[in-house]
Amino acid sequence: MSGERGEFGLTDPEESDVPGDEWEELDVSDDEADRIARRQDHAFNQFRERIKNTEQFKVEAAVFDDATLAALYKLVQDGHIAAFGGPVSTGKEANVYEALGDDDHELAVKVYRINTSNFRQMRDYLEGDPRFEGIGGDKKAVVLAWVRKEFATLRRAKRAGVRVPEPIAVQRNVLVMDLVGHADDRARRLAEVTVENPETAYEVVREYMRRLYSAGLIHGDLSEYNLIIHEGELFVIDLGQAITVHHPNADDFLDRDCRNVASFFSRQGLDVTGDDLHEYVTRPEPEPSADAESVEAESTHSAGSTTGTDATGEE
Ligand SMILES: Nc1ncnc2c1ncn2[C@@H]1O[C@H](COP(=O)(O)OP(=O)(O)O)[C@@H](O)[C@H]1O
Ligand SMILES: [Mg+2]
Repeated sequence: MSGERGEFGLTDPEESDVPGDEWEELDVSDDEADRIARRQDHAFNQFRERIKNTEQFKVEAAVFDDATLAALYKLVQDGHIAAFGGPVSTGKEANVYEALGDDDHELAVKVYRINTSNFRQMRDYLEGDPRFEGIGGDKKAVVLAWVRKEFATLRRAKRAGVRVPEPIAVQRNVLVMDLVGHADDRARRLAEVTVENPETAYEVVREYMRRLYSAGLIHGDLSEYNLIIHEGELFVIDLGQAITVHHPNADDFLDRDCRNVASFFSRQGLDVTGDDLHEYVTRPEPEPSADAESVEAESTHSAGSTTGTDATGEE
């Protein structure tokens, strides 16, 4: 990746986007996966049986409906996924699996559940977002829009110079992105590691928050659980609930993110508050050259990186 500087690999923005809500339309009508599930042809049925019998999907197969399996099938047909690996995480709304893409490229496949998702909470984020007007209370439409929004947000964040997993494809309720780390050496959440240089880590997180904000975005669920680290590089993940700065409760969401992040880093011994962070994030970016210099200067102070503290894996 270009433009790495110092620890935690702060990246350079690719282009300066105009902040705003210029999003692609979120099309939540039935897609090819729904049609494949309805058609139930021989090839799909074989795929479905194979998937349902693999070790890593056994537990979850029950919650994967035919249309979800058809979405996975379509991603295989389209050449995005070559093989499925084991589970990485089972969250409230989604399960994350490892997979292989072409050239043995390692992937993370995030499969959102349609029926068991937490709708009340999703609605809080969706209310006030013009892209969701007219979607109403239909669970499937909400989840589909959510997944598309996560994909679009990852792209937008990446363009704004925030280190996020590279988004690869989205199909119905399934999002495919680059795996951070490796199957046998997984990335750790900030919450799971001993941060030996919290100051630098804080500076990088705060810069990413500011870049997101100037790209018109607020993460909306930022904490040490949605920041992952691998080989000294810090990634922001889990952007499904990200909202735009025009959301009626944008400031409350930003405030909460700031408090979560500041509280984590003050537990690491830094003298920081949510208010300071909020102020930094919303303050217009200084001249790029001055900024680059200060980040470089700051990151040369601290040595060391992070060490993993647990080897027990995800919950
Ligand atoms: N691209 C990725 N690379 C590596 N690990 C990932 C990736 N995406 C998610 N994970 C792992 O899966 C967990 C859950 O993913 P996340 O997007 O945060 O979903 P949830 O909504 O369940 O919190 C993360 O904490 C992280 O450990
Ligand atoms: Mg998460």
